[in-house]
Amino acid sequence: MPTQAEVPWTMKAWIAFGAGHVTDVLGLKTDWPIPMPPKTGEIMVKVSHVALNPGDAKMIAKPIPFRKSAIVGMDFVGEVTQVGSSTPDLRSGMIVAGTVPMINILRGIGSLAEYLVVPAHAVVEKPKGLEDRAAAGLLGIVGQTSVVMLRSAGLQKGDKVLLNGASGGVGCVLVQILNGMGVHVTGVCSSKNEAIVRRLGAQEVVDYTAHSDLYCHLSSLVKSIGSSPFDAIFDCVGDDMLYYRSPGYLKAGGTIALIKVLWGSSHSSSSTTGRPYSEEYLELTRAFSAIQQDLRPRK
Ligand SMILES: NC(=O)c1ccc[n+]([C@@H]2O[C@H](COP(=O)([O-])OP(=O)(O)OC[C@H]3O[C@@H](n4cnc5c(N)ncnc54)[C@H](OP(=O)(O)O)[C@@H]3O)[C@@H](O)[C@H]2O)c1
Repeated sequence: MPTQAEVPWTMKAWIAFGAGHVTDVLGLKTDWPIPMPPKTGEIMVKVSHVALNPGDAKMIAKPIPFRKSAIVGMDFVGEVTQVGSSTPDLRSGMIVAGTVPMINILRGIGSLAEYLVVPAHAVVEKPKGLEDRAAAGLLGIVGQTSVVMLRSAGLQKGDKVLLNGASGGVGCVLVQILNGMGVHVTGVCSSKNEAIVRRLGAQEVVDYTAHSDLYCHLSSLVKSIGSSPFDAIFDCVGDDMLYYRSPGYLKAGGTIALIKVLWGSSHSSSSTTGRPYSEEYLELTRAFSAIQQDLRPRK
């Protein structure tokens, strides 16, 4: 692990020069300046893996005032190389996973670079046994969004959940966590993705393209013999009708957790919780521990 003196002066980084489509504005720089050493409450990370997200492209699609160039990317995994003061839980050599805070993204300081300085609260130590590349995809924005949605529902083993957008970025993670928790999942996606959603753990799949009135179909599903209403609905699509028509298929007092688009089509309310990121990571780690427990072969 490089000491402060050994950290190079320049690094490779994927830079968006201006706003626009990734293919038009993105370029690899091999001599981008290394970030300044971490200040109080910050750490420097030597990035090993980055997860790409549709949100990364959205963050460079539109101009941001005073930002001329930007390192793209949000989620990352890497080794802590330097720590600022007041970072008691972190030390050099630790492998951490995290997401670059939005304020840094707006300033053009993303994760797709060899080195990154972030607040210590934006990372968690990577759980042992989880591959680095999997951690990059799991413990970032998608995972945090999943945890926020899960927290709101307070589900128990044996509960029934309707998961709209089960084949999407967030849905694919949620379906696995729910399956690991022993929750019965009915996933909604198009038929081309049915097989993968079932493989990830959904017991039932509803093809939204096959029903002219999806909500009527869901109501008839729960009225069929031996069936019962859903205990919760997770909507990763943002379909208001799913909420308005929910008395037909959601039990009284059941929860609806939805990703609500705040502006354009690129942000969601579910990721703004006001809690330190690391708490969400820990919950995510616990959720996945539950999966691992569940998947362990039984004697
Ligand atoms: N990805 C993230 O990290 C993240 C984090 C926070 C918030 N968000 C927000 O969450 C939302 C979903 O993001 P995502 O990344 O999970 O999405 P995504 O990967 O684009 O997936 C979209 C899902 O919606 C389904 N779908 C598309 N059109 C539909 C329709 N007309 N009716 C019902 N389902 C439909 C798709 O099914 P098929 O493909 O099978 O047709 C797929 O399952 C977006 O608003 C995004 O901004 C995303």
